[in-house]
Amino acid sequence: MSIRLFASIEEASRAVPPGQLRKLVVKGKPYLLIHNNTGFFVTAYACPHQNEPLTKGKLNVFNELICPLHEYRFNLQTGQEANQRCGHLTLYQIALKPDGLYLNI
Ligand code: FES
Repeated sequence: MSIRLFASIEEASRAVPPGQLRKLVVKGKPYLLIHNNTGFFVTAYACPHQNEPLTKGKLNVFNELICPLHEYRFNLQTGQEANQRCGHLTLYQIALKPDGLYLNI
């Protein structure tokens, strides 16, 4: 299923400026929308380690999301934790189309 999140990349950037994270609720389920220096990402809302919500996570220059609870680091291209201490963070596909930014779930 493909769901339009924003009408354009500019609208997405205004809503979630670079360096920020936002909770998204789509069809009643929470997700995490991330905007970093390489683009937009959508991940699971909760950490795969102990289910901490990731909205207060931090981003680093290595394209990683850092969980606020135990500071495990998840690669935003692969979902893998940097030291393989837990399962992968689920990543969702997003697509930029002429009429907006879409999430595939
Ligand atoms: S709950 Fe996220 S690293 Fe432990």
